[in-house]
Amino acid sequence: MIGVLVSGEGSNLQALLDAGLPVAAVASSRRAARALERAEAAGVPSAAFPLDDYGDREQRDTTMADWLQEHGIRLVVCAGYMHLLTVPFLARFPGRIVNVHPSLLPAFPGTRAIDDALAAGVETTGVTVHLVDEGLDTGPVIRQEPVPVRPRETLAERIHAVEHRLLPEVVRELAGAGR
Ligand code: GRF
Repeated sequence: MIGVLVSGEGSNLQALLDAGLPVAAVASSRRAARALERAEAAGVPSAAFPLDDYGDREQRDTTMADWLQEHGIRLVVCAGYMHLLTVPFLARFPGRIVNVHPSLLPAFPGTRAIDDALAAGVETTGVTVHLVDEGLDTGPVIRQEPVPVRPRETLAERIHAVEHRLLPEVVRELAGAGR
């Protein structure tokens, strides 16, 4: 069973759902996330765990991990999840948390990866699916695909299209491998 962590639009969550993957729970860091509406429309249990409701990040992450495990989750996918995960969460799903990121890591980590690649003037950027650790987009790479920067006007759209294909592919392989 797959759990998906989200914070916003949820187009990657939608790609996982459309691929028919066994998404059994969706957890959001924000109450107002469009991703929660997508989960509801798909009939997938969802919940918000906003930081403001908890004493600290570890408490929030522990509650979120409890909730995911109650839903039988074995593999966690960060799909546009905008917070770092703390050790109490990572320890509950060792080697079983992946993230999709819109650059060829280790180039352009962080929340502005597409704009940063455009500003840097590189010719090629891309998409990375990687295992999550405590760092900001630092875990071991599982799969990468390059995307040419030009034409610049359509870069974001083309990157998202690659994400929506690559993430379900990798998640299907990991889920099939018993994660
Ligand atoms: C994606 O570009 C993802 O790589 C990045 O945040 C964006 C989330 O988009 N981490 P969405 O919420 O899946 O539509």
